[in-house]
Parts: sequence; C-alpha cells; structure tokens
Amino acid sequence: MCSLWRGSLLTLTSSLNRRVFQCCRQFGRSYNIASCMPEAVAFQGVSDHSGLYKFSVNESDRFWGAVARQRLSWISPFHTVQNCDFSQGKIKWFEGGKLNVSVNCLDRHVHTCPERVALIWERDEPGTEVKITYRQLLELTCRLGNLLKRQGVRRGDCVTIYMPPCPLAVASMLACARIGAAHNVVFAGFSSEALADRIRDAQSSTVITVNQGVRGGKVVDLKRTVDQAVQNCPSVQQVLVAMRTENTVAMTDRDVPLEEEMMKEDVVCEPVAMDSEDVLFLLYTSGSTGKPKGLVHTQAGYLLYTSLTHRYVFNYHDGDVFGCVADIGWITGHSYIVYGALCNGGTTVLFESTPVYPNPGRYWEMVERLEINQFYGAPTAIRLLLKYGDEWVQNYNRSSLKTLGSVGEPINTEAWEWYHRVVGDGRCPVVDTWWQTETGGICIAPRPADPEAEIVPGMAMRPFYGIKPALLDTEGEVLSSNDSTGALCISQAWPGMARTIHNHHQRFTETYFQPYPGFFFTGDGAHRSKEGYYQIVGRLDDVINVSGHRLGTAELEDVVVCTIKSHQIKCIYIALRTQPKTPNSKQCRCRSTIIIMCLPKTRSGKIMRRVLRKVVERNTDELGDLSTLDDPDSVHEVIRVPQLHIDNSPTASP
Ligand code: WTA
Repeated sequence: MCSLWRGSLLTLTSSLNRRVFQCCRQFGRSYNIASCMPEAVAFQGVSDHSGLYKFSVNESDRFWGAVARQRLSWISPFHTVQNCDFSQGKIKWFEGGKLNVSVNCLDRHVHTCPERVALIWERDEPGTEVKITYRQLLELTCRLGNLLKRQGVRRGDCVTIYMPPCPLAVASMLACARIGAAHNVVFAGFSSEALADRIRDAQSSTVITVNQGVRGGKVVDLKRTVDQAVQNCPSVQQVLVAMRTENTVAMTDRDVPLEEEMMKEDVVCEPVAMDSEDVLFLLYTSGSTGKPKGLVHTQAGYLLYTSLTHRYVFNYHDGDVFGCVADIGWITGHSYIVYGALCNGGTTVLFESTPVYPNPGRYWEMVERLEINQFYGAPTAIRLLLKYGDEWVQNYNRSSLKTLGSVGEPINTEAWEWYHRVVGDGRCPVVDTWWQTETGGICIAPRPADPEAEIVPGMAMRPFYGIKPALLDTEGEVLSSNDSTGALCISQAWPGMARTIHNHHQRFTETYFQPYPGFFFTGDGAHRSKEGYYQIVGRLDDVINVSGHRLGTAELEDVVVCTIKSHQIKCIYIALRTQPKTPNSKQCRCRSTIIIMCLPKTRSGKIMRRVLRKVVERNTDELGDLSTLDDPDSVHEVIRVPQLHIDNSPTASP
C-alpha cells in the first residue's frame, strides 16, 4: 500500500506540473479595463486584471467603496467603508449605510425586467420544472413577509427554515430579509436532534417547513421531523407548513398552513431599512468539537461580496442560466443560488433531486433541457458520475455550458480532467473555487484573471479581488517565498467574511484570530506554487508527515482515486491528528492512522472525521449525531473493519 501510493504521488505531482490548460476564450486579446469590471475605469492607473487585483488589496477602501456604491441600491449611503480589527474579531463594513437586501434582490429587477425568470425549480421528477419570474417572486416574498409579521415575527427575530430547495424556501429567506428578521436555514437532511439544537441556539419562535420532501423518488416526512424537534424547543410558538406533496399531515394548534394563510395577505410589503451590519442570517456549521457554530453574516458586505464573486468568478452575464446543484441548506446555496445570483438579476436553478435520479445522466439532461450556462457542483458528485462512463454525459447536448465550477473539497486531477474534457468538451474553463461558510463567498479561484490566463487542473489558484492570502509556518512566521506550504490565512478583512459566532464571540476570536495573531486563520493548509498559485491541501488537522513529506488528505485521496480503478476503491489511508496544530495551541505529538474500508461521508461529500477520530480512540459510544451522513451504516462498517490498525506512536513534529 505504502509504496504504491508514494510512487503515484510522484507521478501525480509531475503530471500536474506538465499539464496546464489554456481555457479562457471569453475575452478577445485586446480589451480595456471596463470589460474586466466597469467600476474599475474610475481607478487611476489600473489597466489590466493584475493591476485591478493589486488596487483591490492595496486600496481596499477605495475599491470596496466604489463597488458598493455602484452595485447595491442604498436607502442611505454609508459613511465608513470598513472598520475592522482582527485582534478583537471586529469586522464592520459600510457603517452608516441603510439598505434592504430583498429590494436589491427583487424590486430593482422587477422595475427593469419583471417577466425575467428568477428561479427555475428543477423538481425531483425530470421535466416537471417550474419557472418563477422576478414579479412572482417579489409577490411571494411580500405575502410571506406580511404573514410573518401577522404571526408576530419582528425585526431582529430569527426564523428557522427547514425546507428542501423550492421557491417558497427562497421566498422565506427573502421575506425575513424584507421585514428585518434573520433566518437560520437548517439543511433538510438533518435529524430532529440536530434541528432542535439549532432552533434552540438561534432562539427561534417560528419555524417554516414543508409537509414532506421529495428526493430521488422518495418521500421524506419533514414535518414529522420538525414535530419531534420542537418538542424540545420551548421557544417555538408556531410552525408554518407549506405543502410540497398532496398528502395531508397531522396539524396541531401550533401549525399554520402556509399557502392558505399567505394568500390572504397583501402583495405589497414595505421593506425595512436595515443597517449594513444588522444580521442577515445565521448558518450553523459543524465545529471540530461536535458543537455546531452559528456563523453570523450581515447585510451589505455579504450581499456585495456574493454578487461580485458570482459575476466575475463564473463570468455570469445577463440572461445566463446559473445552475448550482448545492442545497440551499449550505453556504453555497445561500451565496450562489440565492443572494449572489438574485442580486445580479440572474436566473438561478433550484435543484431538488440527486445526481443519479432517475439515472446518472440527470445533471446533463437538465443542462440540455434548461440550457444551463454555468454549472456549479461538488467533486464528490463528479467522481461518482465519472464511474458511470462518458455515455451518460455525451447523450445530451451541453453546448449551452460556458463555465464549470467545483466547490467543497479538493477536486482530484482525474475528476478535474473528466469534468473539463468530457462534460465541458474541453472548451469551458473549470473554476475550482475555494471558500468556506466563514468566508461568505469564493476567496480563491482561477477566474477572474487576465485574458487567456492558464488554468491548472485541481488548483484554486488566484485570490479574488480584495483577498490577500498568506501562508504561515508552525512558528507563526509568514512564508514569503513561492513554492511553500503552510497554514492558509487571510491578511486583511473583506466584506463577505462572517462577523461572529452567534452568542459566542470569544469562540469566534479564539478559532479564527488567535491561532495566528493579525490574520484570519482558515483551518486549511495550502501550497503556493513556483508560479504563485494556491493549491488547497486540506484541513490542517488532517495533515501527516510521511517520510519527510507533509501530506494532506487531498493528496492522499487524489493518489488513491487516480491509482486504483474506481470500482476497486475499497480502502483509503486516513491520518488523524487529534488536535489542530498551530503556534498558539498545545502541540499535539500523537498521531493515529487507520486503514478503513468505507468512509463516513456527509451528503455534501465531506468525510466526517470526528466519527473516525472516535473510532480510533475506541470511543464508539460517543459518536454524536450521524444524521447528516449519506450512509449512516458506513460507520458500523468502519467499526467492524478487519484492517483497523491503530498507531498511536508519537511522531516528530514536521
Ligand atoms: C473545503 C463550502 C479544497 C475546505 C463552500 C474548507 C475546499 C471547507 C474547496 C469549507 C476547494 C471548500 N478545494 N477544499 N475548492 N472548497 N473546501 O464551510 O476544507 O461547507 O475549509 O463551505 O471545505 O466547507 P464549507
């Protein structure tokens, strides 16, 4: 096993360096700065992409100030572009400004193009999509906003939304934004315990759900899960229930039939003038301790950052159909299905199904039918589809595609090349986008870039405007030269970053700002190549040192996936460090390795390392909530695995 993957790692590295794709065809050779970004004409001395990037990080106030004035509709202007201090975890953007996010996402487009399609709801059953125009979405949002107000929801309250991707879920998010409430969308695959935890932490009095969900041909009783959850949530006073299926479900005094009641409401709902730094939403993400963190995003900065990245990373233009197949319960859904896309007046797809329902051609059949221009998905799905062969892709016309995106985990070279060559017919740039719930939007991606700039497979490559990455070593020193690997940090604030952890500001500063004082610490490791491009090597707490090489799970997974024929993938070598290693945390010298047969992965494709750790520590009674796992049985296989090999020997620090 060892020599097998060590040898392959060398092959992989050299092939990575050799194969460089030139795939930017969307610009001609000659262009002016306005075609890069219209706002940039006002920036003196800026004449190309590199100049604009430098301006955005060196003159951050002028850059973000100009972009914010141009791209957002303000009720009153801001007086201060930024007021940030990493040492206290203080992040404030556009203070003094007032705006309403739903007006930016809806009303202003209704004024210019009311009949443009805002949402294409790609329902589980292929060919049954529903299109919602901007005018209709504004009406839904206003009725819902009025209903929420009638039900006692006030500015500053937090509404929990437990719904699959559907227009009423988007309208619920925007209705909260319209009346000044925050939302807390909980992924509708979470268990009742996970939901209850999040409702309690957010102190919601209102929950919005559907009677049942439909996914991959199966009906899921979501309302029943909510009923179980709210038994343990004394704050909940009402549950609004939309009807996704025609089946009736038991309703109690607490439950409100959503469609019926919203139809009684007016189609006009006065938007509340919100301060830039009022809370827009909480989104829980699992922390390494198992206690989820409610990351807080606010109004103006988040909206601006998602709209700018949506426009320039994907080269989104008016009239394009943007197909992000994430769930709205994750940050990707919030930022690119909902806020970024709608702020740009885009047409955005809400995908309710799975990549293999009713067959592995689902994505590409949908691309043909909906004429999708930008397709944004996860490596885990790409790897799965690759196994089924090219025919499932080639059966469908994909000529509408212009940009392909990848997010959520490192994309291995084989999957990247298949995505580029087979799905995109070798003509679409593939943007491997690195970011996190904490960053709000994409921070590192191959685009935007100079025209014709190269794209290297499996690399996020270039920081976005305003993002200044830094790599730090274990002593906390900045690695200034290229061809180095370290902890990925970001040196200065950007408008999209999370502002705090709900009710736990201290945990926020401890997690993100104390490990490397003066920097935002991402928790990921990265390599900066000789050319200065960034490649994410995975979570830092999973890094191991093998024969003097620092290896991350990304590299290991890449080798395993590249080396062994897909159908033979039965084992993978995972390394676990029980604690993250940063200069300010106690050094952990104990490493555990485990060879297992089957990985416990979440539906969004992330390996649940917390579970593996517990197995290694022989702590299987405390595995915690497993409901987000794609296949909860995989845990039992891990526990039973015959090759389980535990090596708790101390290792030298790298
Ligand atoms: C990982 C998802 C490699 C990374 C938007 C990060 C990636 C975590 C990439 C955040 C990528 C995300 N290449 N790794 N392109 N994108 N990650 O909060 O470890 O669900 O810290 O946000 O996913 O996951 P989250």
